[in-house]
Amino acid sequence: MLTDRPEWKALSAHYTDIKDLHIRDLFTQNPQRGEAFLIELNGMLLDYSKNPITTQTMEKLHAYARSCGLEEKREDMFSGAKINHTENRAVLHTALRAPKDSTIKVDGENIVPYIHDGLAHMQEFSKKIRGGALTGYTGKHFTHIINIGIGGSDLGPKMAYEALANSNKSNISVRFVSNVDPADISEALQCADPETTLFIIASKTFTTQETMANAHAARAWFLKSASNDAHLEKHFIALSTNIDAVKSFGIAEDNIFPFKEWVGGRFSVWSSIGLSISLAYGFDTFRAFLDGAHEMDEHFRTAPLEKNMPVTLALLGLWYRNFCDYGTYAVLPYYQRLNSFARWLQQLDMESNGKSIDNEGHKTTYNTAPIIFGEPGTNGQHAFYQLLHQGTSIVPCDFIGVIKDEYEIGDQHTMLLANLLAQSKAMMEGKPIPEAGKPYKNFEGNRPNNMILLDKLDARTLGKLMALYEHKIFVQGILWNINSFDQWGVELGKILSKEIMNDLQSPQTESNDASCRTLLRHIHKKLASS
Ligand code: F6P
Repeated sequence: MLTDRPEWKALSAHYTDIKDLHIRDLFTQNPQRGEAFLIELNGMLLDYSKNPITTQTMEKLHAYARSCGLEEKREDMFSGAKINHTENRAVLHTALRAPKDSTIKVDGENIVPYIHDGLAHMQEFSKKIRGGALTGYTGKHFTHIINIGIGGSDLGPKMAYEALANSNKSNISVRFVSNVDPADISEALQCADPETTLFIIASKTFTTQETMANAHAARAWFLKSASNDAHLEKHFIALSTNIDAVKSFGIAEDNIFPFKEWVGGRFSVWSSIGLSISLAYGFDTFRAFLDGAHEMDEHFRTAPLEKNMPVTLALLGLWYRNFCDYGTYAVLPYYQRLNSFARWLQQLDMESNGKSIDNEGHKTTYNTAPIIFGEPGTNGQHAFYQLLHQGTSIVPCDFIGVIKDEYEIGDQHTMLLANLLAQSKAMMEGKPIPEAGKPYKNFEGNRPNNMILLDKLDARTLGKLMALYEHKIFVQGILWNINSFDQWGVELGKILSKEIMNDLQSPQTESNDASCRTLLRHIHKKLASS
């Protein structure tokens, strides 16, 4: 067990030694602390000085990381080893952003030419749609895209689409439909015109219940107007690994943008799953997004652990979760266009590392992924920050700020930045001098937080930011000895929902547990009386 390792035990002992230190005092002891706990990478800065750690803590954390073979395992991922051992798959989202002249082999074959052929296909298609060479069935230009997908086939492209909204204005708007709740697709279709709408069916497996139900609904809606199956070809495209299933749905081979099983769902925005970004903002923007992620890949792969951003964030996460025993983690972007960032990160982190069985099949005796949540500042300040400042649970936070913005409305962007710095400071410092007789006004501070500052948020920086978190999560999987790349925990609910679907459609409700039977009877009764 990891917890028996001398490096882990050294961290436990060190925690006992320093647990009563206040971060405020660490700043007093070392006036250079602000510069000492800082990493910069072309337009991105990580300040991790406001954490309950000392130089010795970091040294011990690095020693633990090395004892886990982090550097060797990092190389295994980049070079295509089948590190997703429960599915016998390589993990190569990093290959999707690798330059053309790289060589990355899977089962002895260099996959880079395949990736670049796919990118060329996306580039050509984006050019034709944006330039009007490809039109709808009545010859009108496409103005509207509906991306139907869920999980990684939705959250990554949706978040990036929103984040880049101002980077390269286009006449094409994208709407994302994910939920099986019929309200989602119905509302999207209500605003759509069949003559000018392109449907993207995004699904790695092309079997996902929600996506297939919404895709069929969209197809039926489209055919109501187009009245001819032949027109589907102009309006439906698929992004998938499952070519046979796409063809049986009725999508023409030329309209398939394939990718491979070594791209995990939650890491798939870099594959053809990101096509909506290229269609909305142009292929050059998508390329810049990939280049930014590649820059972070290179940093992660080559920077020493001591100056490595993803490694640093991962080790701090280990410190919070396993030594300080903090169970939650907040991500707080002070940037409205990162509205969906926390939702994207929830899947990335919690689906990757929400595991309790280690790589040898044993139940872990230590905690793994925390619960991730978040909201853009300053909205969160007026919602849940009360708990962050004075609640009984300590919640480590990542603040994300963007220094320059193109919106110029009075001094609102300066206000945003002021709020960002103020919150980070208040959490760390608290109120050093308590108000006499008014304990409810006291702030203890000592609440750990990181500050990630971006010069600006363009496609390249967004790619870099997302890859930062991807690698953080990979590192934590190594530190916890778990497989970050499978997601068996989502299977049971999927199987049960199919069984219960039958029970809902038939009046016999004798199977299932007592609670489920009672609920089914209640639903049947209500449906019968309406
Ligand atoms: O929720 C499980 C999951 O498999 C995710 O990992 C994935 O992103 C999502 O479903 C969607 O899967 P697909 O792209 O195959 O439709």
